[in-house]
Amino acid sequence: MKYYLTTPIYYVNAAPHLGTAYSTFVADLIRRMKKLQGYDPVELTTGSDEHSRNVERAAKAAGKAPEEYAATIAAEFQRQWERLGIEYDHFIRTSDPRHHETVRDLFERCRRNGYVYKGSYTGQYCVNDELYINDAQPGDPCPECGRPTETVTEENYFFKLSAFQDRLLELYEKSPEFVKPDHRRNEITAFVRQGLNDLSITRTTLKWGIPAPVEGNHVFYVWFDALIAYMTAVKAEGLWPADLHLIGKDILRFHAVYWPAFLMAADLPLPKQVFAHGWILHEENKMSKSRGNVVRPGPIAEVVGVDGLRYFLLREITFGQDGSFSYDALVQRYNADLANGLGNLASRTLSMIHQYRQGRIPDSAGAGDIAAAARACTESAIDCFGQFNFSRGLEMIWSFISAIDKFIVERAPWKLAKDSAAFSQGLLDETLYTSAEALRIICVLLYPVMPQAARKIWLQLGMASAIENVRAPELHWGKLPVDQTVGTVVAVFPRLDAEPAIKKMEELEVVEKARQDVLMGKVAPAPPAQPAEGKGTISIDDFSKVDLRVGVVVAAERVKGADKLLHLKVDIGESEPRTIVAGIAEVYEPEKMVGRKVVIVANLQPRKLRGLTSQGMIVAASLEGGKPVLAGFLEDVPVGARLK
Ligand code: MSP
Repeated sequence: MKYYLTTPIYYVNAAPHLGTAYSTFVADLIRRMKKLQGYDPVELTTGSDEHSRNVERAAKAAGKAPEEYAATIAAEFQRQWERLGIEYDHFIRTSDPRHHETVRDLFERCRRNGYVYKGSYTGQYCVNDELYINDAQPGDPCPECGRPTETVTEENYFFKLSAFQDRLLELYEKSPEFVKPDHRRNEITAFVRQGLNDLSITRTTLKWGIPAPVEGNHVFYVWFDALIAYMTAVKAEGLWPADLHLIGKDILRFHAVYWPAFLMAADLPLPKQVFAHGWILHEENKMSKSRGNVVRPGPIAEVVGVDGLRYFLLREITFGQDGSFSYDALVQRYNADLANGLGNLASRTLSMIHQYRQGRIPDSAGAGDIAAAARACTESAIDCFGQFNFSRGLEMIWSFISAIDKFIVERAPWKLAKDSAAFSQGLLDETLYTSAEALRIICVLLYPVMPQAARKIWLQLGMASAIENVRAPELHWGKLPVDQTVGTVVAVFPRLDAEPAIKKMEELEVVEKARQDVLMGKVAPAPPAQPAEGKGTISIDDFSKVDLRVGVVVAAERVKGADKLLHLKVDIGESEPRTIVAGIAEVYEPEKMVGRKVVIVANLQPRKLRGLTSQGMIVAASLEGGKPVLAGFLEDVPVGARLK
């Protein structure tokens, strides 16, 4: 049986961030889980929503044509998803000519069936949400985002949304699984019960859109464009209708009201389910580009691994509800559940097999009570995952991990190993087999959530099959081949020291943000360096005159009366830390500088600034606008090391 699912088709006026990555991670998880359950084919569509006034404006601000701008950001989405190990089958760009065709086709179908008419509209419009606000007065804010609305008058084509009230209400009632979670369905039902206004689906004041097959310069309204991308992506495969549209709650109305109405009007099959998840909050607000409180997934993954991040998001946040992200909570969970919990179980089990059985899985059927616990855990975890209750499913798996830990402690294999009696040796075989077999089952269950870590443990267990091809019957107890040789034990989740780990994520985030800002055209890249006077090059001897050193900031404060300056004390391995006055205060908070490794020019002539004598200069990249990004190292380097 096929399973076709989708992520939202992301706007290209913001680069990918943790919020957009969240939906995409979960879609990747469900894709892997459905494969495990035996669905075939399982296909996932993601993509980029490239038209709209917002994108047109963003492109203009970046000094680019919308086509070029959209292509750059669409490529950034693809690059980020790849970096995060997300697997998908289709990346649909709404600027793709194939998509233009599907949109026009759907429009023609709706028109033929009598659901499209020409009218004129004057009213309040929210540019940010691409939404006409009924009943709003000039000057009213948008009820969705709070920004001021604009008054617009346009001659448009309208979609007769009002004709679908009864059919939509019938859909919600007869197919309650159409909108999930249930409380979201109740919200939508209440909204539709109030009555529906017709919807303007073309624009004449906008150029950057799909031209409508009508007289005049109409392009389609962005939502009568992006939603249809879900169909375009799998047209060739004939996979429509979708089994699941996975979205955030902010775009539920478009998916649960407009979209089924468009499809009903066109006599096309409806998707089976729309699941709206909650928001990731950061610093108590929805993480969003416009609030400026986003963090990016790449830098986090570099420190805790992609799977550390996936685990945190899925375990910490009940899927469907809002949940908070913080670096502290992330590192705490990582250490408690991954380094100590799963990671420890894996290395302990495998090391004992090496130590007591020369790396071979001993012959045993395993302990009956743990086998029963494995069956119960498998059943409940699969059931929870099937209902998209990931945090509960993971809880089940972690109670199973605790049960095995307890079992190992009770059996005390280190004592059994010292007793050569056949009974003790049999018990040792059973203990080792049981732990390894439980670990194998845990890998299969966890693979959709943590594909990379599960694969690593799987390979350390010596499993020959590719974990991505493993199907549900492999979850049965006793499938671990006896006598199989286990691999070298490597810690899958090395323990993290909270403070430096958080500092590193924050530093990498600053760099990643600066990179994305350049990409989005918010900050132009620094102009290419001009060759120095004379021949334009310097000799190695010239370069070696510059004494570049690694230092660590031991104290930092703002310089009174100078917005840009920080007064730093930097230890470069000399008897006293150096005083350095650096023009970085607009970007770097003094509190966050302490403990940070920096590069300084140590043999620069001292210079007086605001009454302080700066004994060197800190090295930073300079973006246009003078914005500094400090030079640093990904690997650990000792204080005082010289850069050559
Ligand atoms: N282009 C439309 C979607 C069209 S679908 C046919 C759009 N794009 S978006 O880039 O703004 O992405 C919105 C989606 O990103 C949300 O619905 C949600 O899935 C995800 N998220 C963005 N910020 C988020 C959080 N802070 N938290 C969780 N998800 C978030 O709307």
